[in-house]
Amino acid sequence: MAASLVPAAASIHTSQQPQLKQKSSGEQQWMGRFSPNKKLNHLKYFKARVTMSSMNNSRSVEIPRQWYNLVADLQIKPPPPLHPKTLQPVQPQDFSPLFPDELIKQEASTERFIEIPDEVVDIYSLWRPTPLIRAKRLEKLLGTPARIYYKYEGVSPAGSHKPNTAVPQVWYNAQQGVKKIVTETGAGQWGSSLAFACGLFDIDCEVWQVRASYDQKPYRKLMMQTWGAKVHPSPSNITNTGRNILAMDPLSPGSLGIAISEAVEIAAANEDTKYCLGSVLNHVLLHQTVIGEECIKQMEAIGETPDVIIGCTGGGSNFAGLAFPFIREKLKGKINPLIRAVEPTACPSLTKGVYAYDYGDTAGMTPLMKMHTLGHDFIPDPIHSGGLRYHGMAPLISHIYELGFMEAVAIPQIECFKGAIQFARTEGLIPAPEPTHAIAAAVREALHCKETGESKVILLAMCGHGHFDLPAYEKYLQGTMVDLSFSDERAQASLANVPLVA
Ligand SMILES: Cc1ncc(COP(=O)(O)O)c(C=O)c1O
Repeated sequence: MAASLVPAAASIHTSQQPQLKQKSSGEQQWMGRFSPNKKLNHLKYFKARVTMSSMNNSRSVEIPRQWYNLVADLQIKPPPPLHPKTLQPVQPQDFSPLFPDELIKQEASTERFIEIPDEVVDIYSLWRPTPLIRAKRLEKLLGTPARIYYKYEGVSPAGSHKPNTAVPQVWYNAQQGVKKIVTETGAGQWGSSLAFACGLFDIDCEVWQVRASYDQKPYRKLMMQTWGAKVHPSPSNITNTGRNILAMDPLSPGSLGIAISEAVEIAAANEDTKYCLGSVLNHVLLHQTVIGEECIKQMEAIGETPDVIIGCTGGGSNFAGLAFPFIREKLKGKINPLIRAVEPTACPSLTKGVYAYDYGDTAGMTPLMKMHTLGHDFIPDPIHSGGLRYHGMAPLISHIYELGFMEAVAIPQIECFKGAIQFARTEGLIPAPEPTHAIAAAVREALHCKETGESKVILLAMCGHGHFDLPAYEKYLQGTMVDLSFSDERAQASLANVPLVA
C-alpha cells in the first residue's frame, strides 16, 4: 500500500531533504539496452508481435495504448491521502523513498488518459489481448435466459491480472535506475507477477508472503524463486514489524496489512530499494484499465452491452480494471450497467467496514487513506482467497461506492467454491479462489434471471486461474471446507483503533 511517510522507518529519509535519486550506473546500463538503433529493432519486433497476436486470436482487438483514469471524469474528486504525522495532504516528494517519479505523478494525476510506454505494450503482447468468452455451457447448466460473459486474465505468465501493473511498475523503476524492489503478497499471485517483471529488467526482488498463503501455496513460492525472487513468510523476524507481531502471536497467520508493513519498512530503510504495491493505489487501478478498454471493444464487436458487471474485490484492482472504462461510458449516458463488487464474508470491508481515514498497513507506516476499512490491525480469518484478506478497499473504489456508482455484496466461501465447481465442470477453467466470489454472484444473478425470465447480459471479471490453489478445491470436494464467519466483536476492537481524523 501506500507510501512513504513512514513515520519510524521512513523518517530515515524524510528527516533529510527529500530528493529524487540520481541515475545509477545500473539505470544507464539498462537504458543502454534501448539505445537508438536497438530501440528501432526492438520496436519492429514489437509491432510484428502485436500484429501476430491480433491475427491469432479471433476474439481479439488491438492492445490499448492508453490507460484510463476515472478521476478525470469525477465531478467530486476523492479525498487526498494524508501524512500520518501532520495529517496534511501528502506531497509528491513524501512518496519518493518508496516510488519512482512517474508512478508518483500517476498516483495524483487528473489526466483522463495516460500513454502506455511502447516497451510495456510489447511485454503485454505476450498475453494480451485476453479473451472474452461466453459461458454458454454454464448458462445451460443453470437453465438461465441470461447471457454470461467472462473476461479471462489467467492467460498471463503469472496466471492473473497482476502482471498488467507489475510490468509498468517495474519498468518505471528500471527507468530510474532502481536496483531492488520489495513487496508483499497475499495469494502469491502479486508476488509472482512482480518476480516475473523484475526478472525481465534484471532487478532484484524480495517478497513477504503472508504466512497462511506461504504454507498453503508452496508452488507459488517456487514460482517466485524460479523467476529469481527471494521469498520470506510474513510475519518474519527480519523486520521490527514482523518481530513485534511474532512476539504477540508466534503462530500468526499474517495478513496483507502486516506484510505491507514489512516490505515498506525495508524499502524506507534502504536507499537503493523501492516498494511496489499490487492493488489499492490509484496508479495500480489505472494500469488495470487495459482489461476494461479491451473488453468494451470486444463487446462492441459481438454487439453486446453488459447489464451487470461483476468482480471480486480484495484491494479492488481487477474489479476497477474491468469496471472503470464501462463507468466512463455510463457517465456519458451510452450504457447503464449495474456495477457489483463481491467480497468475502470473512473480510467485508465495503459492506461492513467504516468509511474513514485509516492506514494501509498494520504497523501504521503508510499515509492515511480515506477508504472503507475494518481497521488496519484487523486480521481476517485464513480463508482460501488470500488475495481478498485485506482490511481496506482502494480509496477510489470507496469514493465511488459512497457516490452510489456501484454496489457490493459479501459471499461465504462454500457458496463461492460451489459456483467454481459448476464453472470448472462446464467451462473447463479452474478459477483462482478470489474470482470464485464473482462467479457465485454471477450464478445468483443468472438464477434470478431464470425466475424473472430476463435475458440480461452478465459480464464477469475472471481474474485468474487456480492451478496452484488445488488444496482449497480438495477441502471443498472432501466436504471439509468451512465458512469462516466474520466476528463483529473482533471488528469492533480493530475499528476502535482507526485514527480519528476530523
Ligand atoms: C487472482 C486474484 N484475484 C483477485 C485478487 C484481489 O486483488 P484485487 O482486488 O486488487 O484485484 C488477487 C490478489 O492477490 C488475486 O491474486
